[in-house]
Amino acid sequence: MKVGLIGWRGMVGSVLLQRMQEENDFAGIEPVFFSTSQAGQPAPMNAGTLKNAEDLAELQKLDVIITCQGGDYTKAIHPALRRSGWQGYWIDAASTLRMESGAVIILDPVNRNVIDAALANGQKDFIGGNCTVSLMLMGLGGLFRAGLVEWLTSMTYQAASGAGAPNMRELLAQMGVLHGSVAELLKNPSSAILEIDRKVTATLRGDELPKKEFGFPLAGSVLPWIDREVEDGQSREEWKGYAETNKILGTTTPIPVDGICVRVGAMRCHSQALTIKLNRDLPLADIEELIKNDNQWVKFVPNTKADTLAELTPTAVSGTLTVPVGRLRKMKMGPQYLSAFTCGDQLLWGAAEPLRRMLRILLE
Ligand code: HSE
Repeated sequence: MKVGLIGWRGMVGSVLLQRMQEENDFAGIEPVFFSTSQAGQPAPMNAGTLKNAEDLAELQKLDVIITCQGGDYTKAIHPALRRSGWQGYWIDAASTLRMESGAVIILDPVNRNVIDAALANGQKDFIGGNCTVSLMLMGLGGLFRAGLVEWLTSMTYQAASGAGAPNMRELLAQMGVLHGSVAELLKNPSSAILEIDRKVTATLRGDELPKKEFGFPLAGSVLPWIDREVEDGQSREEWKGYAETNKILGTTTPIPVDGICVRVGAMRCHSQALTIKLNRDLPLADIEELIKNDNQWVKFVPNTKADTLAELTPTAVSGTLTVPVGRLRKMKMGPQYLSAFTCGDQLLWGAAEPLRRMLRILLE
């Protein structure tokens, strides 16, 4: 199989390449590396030279295209390539095609049945889901699969990486400037904390903080709006929760999913506080079993302070495929109301991993 890789140099693309190497995915394929700016230069892994990512004739030679190049590339190239009669598989990290009727949102540990049905049906466009949605479903797939979820709200704590690599740098630069603004005072243990806070707040509100990417301070603050507004005061990131969850699961009666999506000063792990209304009362022990037996990456974290703080944080999870789920308890609203907290690496299950797994499915 000739597999074209596009956007492999970016952050998601680099994570993808690294995962493909770790899992020996290159053994079964002939990789062709593309570039939008450096065609003709040597490709990685001694795979010849870089081809031009906008050259339809080169793209037409491929059996599979995996792109992490972004939505603008997809918008420009996918329709033209399909119009030219190309029949290959298009695997994409960008959101552009996700909600198209011919496209499948891929998260195979959760929706392998939907993927298999689409393949049998001759469908060719397989698109990675929104990171928050994918991570929520990796954690709570067991409850959805058991048909137990009447509705769900997700309050998110989304990392800087979801906004892009420059945003991760900016977050750290902001942290540095904030620290620098009070470094002298911090050296003196008896300096007044309110004086330190006043200076930090002045720095947050002043012009000194780099904020070209986010537009606002994220370090020392939170940003309760992600992406543009869609309608009724809902952000596009919040809209995806409902639209993509139901598409991934292939529900016939959509399950209401809604919440507030918030950017916080984490690097690459998205966390979510969940309130789940079950459609029947079930003992907590049964719920725990359903969650932890759903897939091999979900990890149930006992609802104790020690376990939670050791295992249910971006610090613990970053760079791993583990999706911990914890803080599980029945809420005061009644026995059908469940709280949970989950956390996951936004670049792995949230972006790169479903793409490489889809390629594996095609190779089966
Ligand atoms: N929209 C996500 C975010 C990126 O901003 O965190 C992953 O889909």
